[in-house]
Amino acid sequence: MRVKRVEIVPLEVVVRNFAAGSLCRQTGIALGTKLDPCLVEFYYKNDDLGDPLLTRDRIFAMGISSAPQLDQLTEQAMRINTILREFFTGCGITLVDFKLEFGTDHTGTLLLADEISPDTCRLWNNAETDERKRVMDKDRFRQDLGSVAENYQTVLDRIMMQLP
Ligand code: TMP
Repeated sequence: MRVKRVEIVPLEVVVRNFAAGSLCRQTGIALGTKLDPCLVEFYYKNDDLGDPLLTRDRIFAMGISSAPQLDQLTEQAMRINTILREFFTGCGITLVDFKLEFGTDHTGTLLLADEISPDTCRLWNNAETDERKRVMDKDRFRQDLGSVAENYQTVLDRIMMQLP
């Protein structure tokens, strides 16, 4: 794997197409509610503070990012969402939500960084309607649903079949 060194922007950029996880817990929005347009949220990458949800004004007050960079982060996250959502649809999988990280290279260019995997996405199997059976991502581990490795393998198999 060839990689580029970046300076990580200390934000977790979460894109949500359907309500799940902390969005349901914090707002009461029902699990699986379609979010159109998708939500783009920023969380502070700081374990000691519990990765809190931030507002634009808090981000500016903290000096983490600028308005133009936040706009660029939002635009890139939405473009990535469009590409990934369509790709996963072709795999028979709903892309519920996912987390991205970005960094700047030595020229200051903003680049997608870190990983995209079933650890950082919520993926639901379109062939299953049962709330527990449809989960193909880390929620299987978080909610102790079992068959974590088998579901990750199914995600990989479907991705490999979908690749050109
Ligand atoms: P959340 O519903 O817990 O806020 O998570 C939203 C998405 O972000 C979900 O796909 C899991 C992913 N995520 C991470 O990859 N790392 C994290 O530390 C957190 C909190 C969420």
